[in-house]
Amino acid sequence: VLEHTFSVATLSLPRICEPGNTSVTAVNGRVPGPKVEAREGDTVVIHVINDSPYNVTVHWHGVFQRGTPWADGPAMVTQCPIRPGRRYTYRFTVAGQEGTLWWHAHSSYMRATVYGALVIRPRRGAVDYPFRKPDGEKTVLLGEWWNGDTVALESRSFSTGVPMPNADAYTINGMPGDLYHCPERTNRIAKFKVRRDKTYLLRIINAALNTAFFFKVAGHTFTVVAADASYMDPYETDVIVIAPGQTIDALMTTDASPGRYHMAISSYQSAIPFPPMPAGFNGNASTAVVEYVDAAATANAASPVLPVMPVPNDTDTAHGFYTSLKALDRPGRRTVPLTVDTRMLVTVGLGFSSCQPIQTQCNRSAPVVLANMNNVSFALPATVSMLEAHYRNTPDGVYTRDFPDQPPLVFDYTSRGLLGNTPLASTGSPSTKVKTLRYNATVEMVLQNTALVGLESHPMHLHGFNFFVVAQGFGNYDGVEDGAGKLNLVNPQERNKGAEVAVPTGGWAVIRFVANNPGMWAMHCHLDSHFGIGLAMVFEVESGPTAETAVPPPPPDLPQC
Ligand code: C2O
Repeated sequence: VLEHTFSVATLSLPRICEPGNTSVTAVNGRVPGPKVEAREGDTVVIHVINDSPYNVTVHWHGVFQRGTPWADGPAMVTQCPIRPGRRYTYRFTVAGQEGTLWWHAHSSYMRATVYGALVIRPRRGAVDYPFRKPDGEKTVLLGEWWNGDTVALESRSFSTGVPMPNADAYTINGMPGDLYHCPERTNRIAKFKVRRDKTYLLRIINAALNTAFFFKVAGHTFTVVAADASYMDPYETDVIVIAPGQTIDALMTTDASPGRYHMAISSYQSAIPFPPMPAGFNGNASTAVVEYVDAAATANAASPVLPVMPVPNDTDTAHGFYTSLKALDRPGRRTVPLTVDTRMLVTVGLGFSSCQPIQTQCNRSAPVVLANMNNVSFALPATVSMLEAHYRNTPDGVYTRDFPDQPPLVFDYTSRGLLGNTPLASTGSPSTKVKTLRYNATVEMVLQNTALVGLESHPMHLHGFNFFVVAQGFGNYDGVEDGAGKLNLVNPQERNKGAEVAVPTGGWAVIRFVANNPGMWAMHCHLDSHFGIGLAMVFEVESGPTAETAVPPPPPDLPQC
């Protein structure tokens, strides 16, 4: 049993490129928060004590939570938030998955500063990593930073209808790096000390709220060995593409000439630079330093070498990276279900509505942007969690079971247009609809990106299950079926539960999963700017025939609303 106490409290940290401090919410006084290091098979017990002035929950992003649905963490889906002054203990087992995952607050924009790594190493005495044992490892958390209290910024955005401002900086392990051309150029930069001719396992986590990144280290290449705590066929690359919520494990060999090298992240898609960047960075970027300790004395004088980053709209590089990952063939690996019980075609995208996000009020004079899946914009319930309503069999007034399997209209999803030019440009009031699945049903879901408002990728994240990405492409989904040779049913990547697929810009992805985990499981876009305005839905998975396949009673300390 691995036990930790997380105390959530307000912290004062220096702003980036602006004088003074800002108050943020943090766990155990640090951003990023503590690293949880487990071995496969361990039981993890985390006591969360909320000493902050805000409601909070913690989600163990990617953990199976088989049989422990009350520990998953999304506010109002599986639990009421932990109120100020209260506590809740999360208890779960990490089994059947190895690699890097992470944890984050799952209430409002708080995860901007409430997040940390969750490492699952192979079980003691078991076969070790299915790749050459690294000489060392480094945890690399990518984040976004606001010069303000994100919870306060978000509630202001909801009450005014004005979207959240963009982040003020990107960070690597909480620090902005040395590229920001502020009056007092920042020197808060993460340093990774390495020795020459060694192999390091980089555990890379994109904890940013709204930004997908390109990741490079000047003068070095990577071998990707896992994604979302699922082993991959080794894939060699000099650039890693990582969407919000995703994790990548990559080996890096320090075979360059001794010196200092910049590790850099730059935005994929967002090209609005906050503070001006040096030439070569066409968007926003952040840096860290990889420093060869053997050579530190001589190399310290020179400034680190910068990598050349892809341009922000380099969709070819992003798509090439995502589609190159294939599951590693190893004994005992899970395989994709070959038959399908439930088929769904679900559009994901943005639209307009006269309703206010989250609250079901439809009386605003100007339309606001709302996100939707199959034209349903999702609202969280207010008084009881969905899992509690499911467990007590009292869904009335909390959720309805009519989430549609198909979009209300079939049309050219790539015909980009604003306000009324396309059939689905307007969503109705936000509502709480679920798709009910039989225990063990096999589900195939086509996620079709719409481009009604703008071209954006949607990194879709599913709680409670693994899914397999069996196909992805651009344009309109063209109805590829089994046997058409287009679905990869042999070695598709399993983006391990808490699985994630970045639905390509103006494109689609086909995923499959087995509904073998009873409970209420959110599926949503991992861009908080989209989740907050309704790009979500929930699967209600019925219990199986035995006690072990039923939702257990809630723990006695489960928070009440
Ligand atoms: Cu990492 Cu529902 O989120």
